[in-house]
Amino acid sequence: MKFSVIALLSASALVSAAPVAEPALDERQAAQSIHEAMVAKGKKYFGTCADQGRLNTGSNSAIIKANFGQVTPENSMKWDATESSKGNFNFGQADQLVSFATTNNKLIRGHTTVWHSQLPGWVSSIRDKATLTQVMQNHITTLLTHFKGKVYAWDVINEMLNEDGSFRSSVFYNVLGEDFVRIAFETAKAADPDAKRYINDYNLDQASYAKTQGMVRNVKKWIAAGIPIDGIGSQGHLTSGQGANAPAAMAALCGAASECALTEVDIQNASGSDWTNVVNACMQQKNCVGITVWGVRDNDSWRPQGNPLLFDSSYKAKSAYTTVLNAINAASSS
Ligand SMILES: *[C@@H]1O[C@H](CO)[C@@H](O)[C@H](O)[C@H]1NC(C)=O
Ligand SMILES: *[C@@H]1O[C@H](CO)[C@@H](O)[C@H](O)[C@H]1NC(C)=O
Repeated sequence: MKFSVIALLSASALVSAAPVAEPALDERQAAQSIHEAMVAKGKKYFGTCADQGRLNTGSNSAIIKANFGQVTPENSMKWDATESSKGNFNFGQADQLVSFATTNNKLIRGHTTVWHSQLPGWVSSIRDKATLTQVMQNHITTLLTHFKGKVYAWDVINEMLNEDGSFRSSVFYNVLGEDFVRIAFETAKAADPDAKRYINDYNLDQASYAKTQGMVRNVKKWIAAGIPIDGIGSQGHLTSGQGANAPAAMAALCGAASECALTEVDIQNASGSDWTNVVNACMQQKNCVGITVWGVRDNDSWRPQGNPLLFDSSYKAKSAYTTVLNAINAASSS
């Protein structure tokens, strides 16, 4: 396959007027944008994560401009980056990403306001309800107000469940109990009513798995109780073969909220069918609004083993990119 592409390239270079049957590797990423293909099927976006450092390196911003329609800040909106000491907010890095996105017409997923990780010690050491409630409310309100009108959806709460579907031990759950969910979502709604509000988690990749079932059960219960949750985000950090379970998992998750999305997809040692299955998992659900991959280039991934992304270390679109594009184009419209 590699050989025939090379032969095709040199033939077309020699006879410039000859029609080229297949786009060259360099052009493939621009030949059709996976974001535009998603929009043509009634979805809102195909996105990736980025931050200022990536945008200023190599071909990342060119690739994002050409192929993706949504960005999620990889780190710059997390608590340790935005409020490392109490009441002192820093939006320098996040503002850069938001500026790139708004200049280039990319949707933004805000990520994330309430998470046990990348959380400063001054928050995790709080032990009384009134203080923690006030601190959470101030953090969420300040972030959502700062970016008001610019963010499509916020991951209001990230990674709150254990693998068995019970609540993770975190300062938020340990001090406030389950009520921290209501406080977080009500605060987010008050600060930016038009941004969609998501609960986001990983290992929601199989419908029968206890964590997936715990998410579905709890989100249905919270929505029925009037907690303003709009969507469930399934991160989708997968390994070879796991794509097969994704369609049924997304059917379960998407049935529990008014919208849903795959928010951080990467697939270690993916086979072609893994990417096809993951794309289908979103395309088959009318209320799945989009897919976000967690990075552009394989070797910039947070877990680079097994070449988990759509572009190789030379910023060339991989065959996985074409697989994703073909799966989108083959799907029915929502
Ligand atoms: C991916 O494949 C490599 C070698 O082909 C192997 O060493 C590695 O353990 C695999 N990783 C996963 C997550 O399957
Ligand atoms: C990724 O690969 C490129 C090309 O081989 C190399 O120049 C770059 O330093 C690598 N980046 C990382 C983070 O490993």
